[in-house]
Amino acid sequence: MVSNYLNYIGGRWTESSTGEKHEHFNPAKPSESIGFTQVSSIEDVKEAVQQAKVAFSDWKQRSSVERGEILRKAADFLEENVQEIAEIATKEMGKRIVETKGEVLRGAMILRYFAQEGMRKTGEMLPSANPNNTLYTTRVPVGVVSVISPWNFPIAIPIWKIAPALVYGNTVVWKPAQDAGITAVKIAEVFDKAGLPAGVLNIVNGRGSALGNSIVEHEDVAAITFTGSNEVGRAIGIRAVAQNKKYQLELGGKNPVVVLKDADIDLAAKLTVEGCMKQTGQRCTATSRVYVEEAIYDLFMEKIMRIVKDIKVGDGINESVTMGPVASKKQYETVCSYIEKGIEEGGNLYYGGKTLEGPDYQGGYFIEPTIFDNVTNEMTIAKEEIFGPVLAVIRVANYEEALEKANDTIYGLSASLFTTNLDKAFHFIKNSEVGLVQINGETGGAEPQAPFGGMKESSSGTREQGQAAMEFFTSYKTVTITTKM
Ligand code: UN1
Repeated sequence: MVSNYLNYIGGRWTESSTGEKHEHFNPAKPSESIGFTQVSSIEDVKEAVQQAKVAFSDWKQRSSVERGEILRKAADFLEENVQEIAEIATKEMGKRIVETKGEVLRGAMILRYFAQEGMRKTGEMLPSANPNNTLYTTRVPVGVVSVISPWNFPIAIPIWKIAPALVYGNTVVWKPAQDAGITAVKIAEVFDKAGLPAGVLNIVNGRGSALGNSIVEHEDVAAITFTGSNEVGRAIGIRAVAQNKKYQLELGGKNPVVVLKDADIDLAAKLTVEGCMKQTGQRCTATSRVYVEEAIYDLFMEKIMRIVKDIKVGDGINESVTMGPVASKKQYETVCSYIEKGIEEGGNLYYGGKTLEGPDYQGGYFIEPTIFDNVTNEMTIAKEEIFGPVLAVIRVANYEEALEKANDTIYGLSASLFTTNLDKAFHFIKNSEVGLVQINGETGGAEPQAPFGGMKESSSGTREQGQAAMEFFTSYKTVTITTKM
């Protein structure tokens, strides 16, 4: 029997006010139903914001050390339930079980990191012109925060938004992507078991198109943190500015790798393929363009081919599979249309590009790892975010040409350079127009203690994680105490 996963509002598990439900199917075998989530209405959003507002008045009074304790308990519950949560996430959005288990553990690590942040200093003593003044800064929570999270990291991304929001004293209304709604309910259960007071975290499942505006525009929502598409992000930003609310947008990427002739080519080939194909390319940090110096172009192609040929595509619930399906029919159609466009516009389809069909694949959304070579920066596959297992290889004469072409994009999330030349490495660090720069590393990946985010159209300029998270989830309060000393 498939389950009906409920909303979590004001500490109670509830059906949506409409009674409508959304059925989830496994992208690796779309005939398998995984369960139902609530299709909530604006009324449900209003109720969740109300509960979060009521809970805020007590939650903000507690010490951040005490709030951190609850995050630590949630980390323990996550770890204890790693297998169950990972399986649900794999069945819901197709990511390999190895990756979803890793993500659950990453979620626990993020929770522990922010629990510890609750023990850090929150202000500074400042000198005052008046000797009778004690002048200092402190940080206060912003209030009710709307968390709008994507389906591609159904565990880590919501946690890296929710954990700092909570430890700094805010309360949360969380609207997960519908395609990750079941996993989201499992995360909410973990917080519930950890003893989070009623109303501090609320989850409202449903369609973004129906709920998005109300969750952003509600007058009691003070801040919005969003990860997802540029189109939706921009609309949220405009609404937030109109109401003078705080907002944080983490958007798309078109992340380049540059491989120079002096590089460790084996390492570059391995990390380019991993950067592109991990999570079936569905990461905003995924490698999607690689600029290769003429002198080593053929050798590099040969090396990446050897790795790509060994990729075993299949149902990610099976541990031996090395690439799962894309997450949904919609995503499948989008990726296929980019592959067609790549061919139409004159890219050379070097490897892959087809859907995997037949009894082994059970109608799942399986696309072969796909490599185009002889791509130019003008082609759509070199410009737009595909969010699938598609790599565009571009030949360049030298480092200077590679840097110019790598920067020639509206995005600015992540970029990697493979080289053993220190001068070029430092030049790249300084001149690549991204928020995350790697030397001899993969474009993807993030550690909880380091600020994460992009430049240009990849972000709103704010940063997530690390101590940068405090900037978004708190406001400064400057305090002056005047005494007769
Ligand atoms: C990672 O590369 O591990 O949606 C993190 C995304 C990014 C997170 C990437 N916001 O893919």
